[in-house]
Amino acid sequence: MIIAVDGPAAAGKGTLARRLAQHYRLAFLDTGALYRAAALHAIESGGDPAAPAVAEDAARRVGPGDLGNPRLREEGVAQAASVVSAIPQVRAALLRFQRDFAATPPGAVLDGRDIGTVVCPDADAKIYVTASLEARAARRFEELRRLGETVIYGRVLQDMKDRDARDSARRTAPLRPADDAIVLDTTELDAEAAFEAAVRAIEEKLAGKHHRSVR
Ligand code: DC
Repeated sequence: MIIAVDGPAAAGKGTLARRLAQHYRLAFLDTGALYRAAALHAIESGGDPAAPAVAEDAARRVGPGDLGNPRLREEGVAQAASVVSAIPQVRAALLRFQRDFAATPPGAVLDGRDIGTVVCPDADAKIYVTASLEARAARRFEELRRLGETVIYGRVLQDMKDRDARDSARRTAPLRPADDAIVLDTTELDAEAAFEAAVRAIEEKLAGKHHRSVR
């Protein structure tokens, strides 16, 4: 079983995807961490993350050992991740890892931007998690503050806008809901309510699939 969870930054994808993985006893992959790891390798190499050759080389060096690095959560790394993720060679270099992960039994929940559209177009259920820009900026602001970073709300809002624009406007695998995705707006929902709404929608989707296949 594969569940794709896509959406913009700070919409609540990660929290939801982790809970769904636990609930359905599936593995979990935060695919944003792969792009963040590629960005961090590029930064640490001293090269320009926007240079395709630098970014591709960095992406090829990404492995499972990179995923727990606390530096991946830094805002500078997030911005650089958004830059490297627009480079087609970077996306190609990270595709195999994601597909192999999803194909490993018993299956997985993957969260990202293009899971339902590109990485796992045949996923059993696809959820597109979104929320208003202001709600997402407020959540990210709180998250960064808890991490002890000095943050200004206006700056977080602007960074969020910039990242949304880059992630949605890029030519390769832009951020968009798959045609068969369930759209879940979490602006007014807490994590618990979002989880319950997602499980209901997934159950309906799986039941519908079953009916179709036995008919
Ligand atoms: O979800 P995140 O904030 O950790 O993602 C960091 C960046 O990586 C994001 O700005 C866009 C990119 N990304 C992507 O292009 N495709 C994915 N499947 C996941 C993340």
